[in-house]
Amino acid sequence: MTDIQELLLSRIRDVADYPEQGVMFKDITPLLADPAAFTALTDTLADIAGATGATKVVGLEARGFILGAPVAVRAGLGFIPVRKAGKLPGATLRQAYDLEYGSAEIEVHAEDLTTADRILIVDDVLATGGTAEAAIQLIQRAGAEVAGVAVLMELGFLGGRDRLAQALDGAPLEALLQL
Ligand code: PRP
Repeated sequence: MTDIQELLLSRIRDVADYPEQGVMFKDITPLLADPAAFTALTDTLADIAGATGATKVVGLEARGFILGAPVAVRAGLGFIPVRKAGKLPGATLRQAYDLEYGSAEIEVHAEDLTTADRILIVDDVLATGGTAEAAIQLIQRAGAEVAGVAVLMELGFLGGRDRLAQALDGAPLEALLQL
């Protein structure tokens, strides 16, 4: 493990039985509160954005906003929010995806994505991959290209990487920590 990975991991707090019994929640608020760790995270993700040749960064509500916005600024790129349905005022593209119980929908402003764009999706965690898969579908439906997905942590036992493989079609999935 690199020094940066050790620093990031040391600032993630495990919270047992949250939000429900049997779930170990990974709380990133201690990392956000530590300027050295938050800067290291932002710089590392911005390097990934540069390496993928991304033209814009998409952040997934809500924790993906906290990480994605400074990554976009650091990389000199624009930022596009993908929001839970009903929060964006303009013309949107909407994508439904399955949750463990039920389903959810996310949206993006259609005019934010063009066929010239290569998009890096940034989020805090890849779990089942449902949210990221829906975001990839939104971006592709808009005619833009997905440059990759970058997350702070991947919960490998939930199989998100396999779920995304087809939609990514060879584009990279970068996870700074495997948990
Ligand atoms: C969490 C997390 C990811 C997503 C990962 O978001 O921030 O976006 O779940 O899960 P998945 O891979 O199984 O789709 P959540 O919906 O809890 O929203 P929040 O960031 O607003 O808390």
